[in-house]
Amino acid sequence: MRHLFFLLIFFILQPVASAQTGWQKTFDHGAVSSADQLASEVGKQILMQGGNAVDAAIAVQFALAVTLPRAGNIGGGGFMVVRLADGTVNTLDFREKAPLSASRDMYIKEGEYQSRLSKDGALAVGVPGTVDGMVQAHQKYGTMEWKSLIEPAIKLAENGYSLSYSQAAGLNAHLDRFRNYTGASVYFLPKNDSLFSEGDLFVQKDLAQTLTFIADLGRDGFYAGEVADEIVNEMNNLGGIITHEDLNKYESVWRAPVTVDFRGYKLYLMPPPSSGSVAIAQILKMMEPYPLEEMGFGSADYLHVMAESMRRAFADRSFYLGDPDFWEVPISELTSVEYNSERMNSFSMDSVTPSETLSHGDVPGYQESTETTHFSIIDRDGNAVGITTTLNGSFGSHVAVTGAGFLLNNEMDDFSAQPGVPNMFGLLGGEANSIQPEKRMLSSMIPMIATKDGKVVMVIGAAGGPRIITAVLQNFLNMAVFEMDAQQANAAPRIHHQWMPDILFYDRLTLSPDTIRLLEAKGHKLRPSSVARIHSLMITEDGKIGAGVDPRGDGYAAGF
Ligand code: GLY
Repeated sequence: MRHLFFLLIFFILQPVASAQTGWQKTFDHGAVSSADQLASEVGKQILMQGGNAVDAAIAVQFALAVTLPRAGNIGGGGFMVVRLADGTVNTLDFREKAPLSASRDMYIKEGEYQSRLSKDGALAVGVPGTVDGMVQAHQKYGTMEWKSLIEPAIKLAENGYSLSYSQAAGLNAHLDRFRNYTGASVYFLPKNDSLFSEGDLFVQKDLAQTLTFIADLGRDGFYAGEVADEIVNEMNNLGGIITHEDLNKYESVWRAPVTVDFRGYKLYLMPPPSSGSVAIAQILKMMEPYPLEEMGFGSADYLHVMAESMRRAFADRSFYLGDPDFWEVPISELTSVEYNSERMNSFSMDSVTPSETLSHGDVPGYQESTETTHFSIIDRDGNAVGITTTLNGSFGSHVAVTGAGFLLNNEMDDFSAQPGVPNMFGLLGGEANSIQPEKRMLSSMIPMIATKDGKVVMVIGAAGGPRIITAVLQNFLNMAVFEMDAQQANAAPRIHHQWMPDILFYDRLTLSPDTIRLLEAKGHKLRPSSVARIHSLMITEDGKIGAGVDPRGDGYAAGF
């Protein structure tokens, strides 16, 4: 039902659009893998009209703001990694920023950390970066008219779309929190006070109007005028602190990628304030000396080496990583072979290094989501884009802007609101990630592009808080070391270790009992858990684009 219209167009326009080879779908010219079918189809249409990967990415970003309100957004932020066919690589940081009147201890009242305030409601909101990011991406690399990239999203908001089962269930799980806020009550409660059901038509007229302002006025359609007034009104009504000055001053930033070499691959990763680049580089450097193929995929030894490397990288993350515009992050030291080989001096093949005995390493001379969404795009010329974007928690702060129809993030919780106290993902942080006006909060989002022999071979990214980092790492290793195709690599079981808590998380029902016993014998404390959701593309040996979607979600790959 939901996708009938698009499927019809799909078959009329492109009778042989894709093939299933191995586990993955393959495409000849261009492809989009995202968390939502309608958004992937929007991206595909842009590619088919001759748009490049950046054009398609902008259209998908706005479409997801309509079709995936729990994570797709205009009220949040994200990261983009782009590699053009000529070899140019760039990254765009459109992460949210702390408002000008934010302060280090703003969530501490009478000496107590008020954890709810950084997670829900107006005080949890960081200054949104998505619209500025898309405008900047378009100015630098876009080839199609700006308006034409937002029109598909406007139509989806104006005409509505049928909710999938998981979309209806996701909304239903948050109804109590939407009821706390006027705007969210208008937009995200079912009309008859019951529950949303699969197949319900979900129409967002005010969001369509906001998107039209953005289509007509670009940046000023969001950071100035009516929409900006509505954001500031919502803040004033609910005790938030974002002002017109915050919105005016917001700017996304182009940054040089972090690069890592691993067995003939060159990885281009989103630099800080993403912590994922440094963590993935460290884990790969710690694992590289071990005979991974010989140990074998899923073996207790392979999982042990990986978990112990993750443990060490996350201990460093908590100490060294923060917004590079405010805090010097020793990237080259942390990612060097020497440093990471030293970090593994305490590693034993037979037993764990308990997290409480392990702190961050010593860099010489150094002074002191679970809801997110990712999409990967490759166009006919070989340009590639990965964007990971988020409101932070599912449906962000649950505050929707009255009159403008969109949700605002709760990204302030990604700061170390009280250094030493875990955030919603159980992550510990230090001064590097403490709150300061206009600072960006540390992120685990990590879009990544891998090349081999100078050509793009993979675009990978994920949703899922800190599990993003370990999922992207494992997805890369699955393809690079174990020669899985894109779909196999996405579906394969995953583990996650983040130093604290000292637990080895694993995909429910995916480790055999004897593997669990072997890991427990080494001292691991295991717990089944959800893992991230990946949407990736890879180039096959015969030059096709192989697409992977995560079977743990609603993901969909479209291409031609
Ligand atoms: N808000 C999730 C992240 O940025 O890591």
